[in-house]
Amino acid sequence: MEPQAIGTAVQAAFERDARLIADAIKIRYNPLVIDRAEGSRIYDIEGRAYLDFGASWSLAHLGYSNPHVRRAVAAQLEKTMFAGLVSAINQPALDLAEKLVGLVPGDFPKKAWFGLSGSDASEAAQRLIRLATGKPRLISFVGSWHGTTDATMALSGHTAFADVVGGAHVTKVPYPNPYRNPFGGDASRVTDQCLGFLEDYLFATICPPGDVGAIFVETVQSDGGDIVPPPDFLPKLRALCDRHGILLVVDDIKVGLGRTGTMFSYEHGGIAADLVLLGKSLGGGLPLSAIVGRQEILDAGTGVALFTVSGNATCCAAGLATLEVIEREGIVAQAAANGAYLHQRLVETLGRHDIVGDIRGLGMIQGVELVTDRASKAPNQPAAAKIVYRAWELGLILYYAGNWSNVLEITPPLILSREEIDEGVALLDQAFADVLAGRVSDAAVARFAGW
Ligand SMILES: Cc1ncc(COP(=O)(O)O)c(C=O)c1O
Repeated sequence: MEPQAIGTAVQAAFERDARLIADAIKIRYNPLVIDRAEGSRIYDIEGRAYLDFGASWSLAHLGYSNPHVRRAVAAQLEKTMFAGLVSAINQPALDLAEKLVGLVPGDFPKKAWFGLSGSDASEAAQRLIRLATGKPRLISFVGSWHGTTDATMALSGHTAFADVVGGAHVTKVPYPNPYRNPFGGDASRVTDQCLGFLEDYLFATICPPGDVGAIFVETVQSDGGDIVPPPDFLPKLRALCDRHGILLVVDDIKVGLGRTGTMFSYEHGGIAADLVLLGKSLGGGLPLSAIVGRQEILDAGTGVALFTVSGNATCCAAGLATLEVIEREGIVAQAAANGAYLHQRLVETLGRHDIVGDIRGLGMIQGVELVTDRASKAPNQPAAAKIVYRAWELGLILYYAGNWSNVLEITPPLILSREEIDEGVALLDQAFADVLAGRVSDAAVARFAGW
């Protein structure tokens, strides 16, 4: 297949973008200019079609044009452009809160809080935990991504935020990465090594557990490189929290609502979270985030974590419709089955390339870690940038992520069919072949710094 050339309309938009849009908001991998999208296909302003293996960073669980969600939004807009939640009540927010409170695991009184973007949910959770517990410290994991406000960057442990100074109250713990055990050795003891470091060493030295309000965790560390910890991690983490009276906050902003093959990702570990953070896919593409969990935390203060447009009726109507479709159409089971198929196809097809160090995932989040060679496992960032760029030229959208920007991240819409999985994996394989044959120049990707 021949790569697509950048057309004049795309080129013009790309130049206007460079002139007009702040670099602060950009992580660009190619000059995709979205005009419209349907299902799992995106069309650019020149009419070219792209299969989407990224779902706009795991946002488009139901693709881009689900009719039920669109109708629900349109019906709400017909009634009013805006109905807020801060100083009035709106029915869609009540309905969505009731739905979420009913769905979230945990046999304790729960409530819901609404925001606009995953970052504000992690930020508000921190504030409410401090108010509710009176404890000043928090724990998170190296490699985690909890948001891009100042407080959530400080909470995060991603290399992209390594120069963010702040968050002295946050202690960061190694994440049990089976492919790159932070303590050395194989994966067999990595959970115990990481949690033992926290409990036996950090708690006994710089981080008294009685001062810790909560541990924030991603059950699959997504932007950190699509790392799936061993199955014993979540139950052991929950038990550790319980031993020390520490709250467990699961950040399900990226992998919640079905992506991993369960509605909430931590159901794989058979545990409940004290708070779960949701965002991205929750609004079906409209800005919506939520915290759902223990009532006493979410009621820790009145009016202490709000925005003028939080919990607005339109976004909540979209959220409710999204959940209805996920449940009614069996999207969670489909993600489990098709995710296993996707994983198998990736292993069969890409596993033969020497630069592939590891292929891992859970349901419809898969990561392909690129290395210079399998023995050294040295991260191969240039190959990741070139493969993602070539994939775009071939008609496939995906991104790379990870602490060393060397992991191809595959988070397609959950509605992707098996035929589309085959098509996307074949395009990716072609992108590998082209890059390995030297058909993508350094200059072609130089304009796309990525991250
Ligand atoms: C796990 C996780 N938490 C929080 C966030 C922040 O969400 P947002 O960028 O939508 O504010 C992200 C974004 O990538 C994420 O992946």
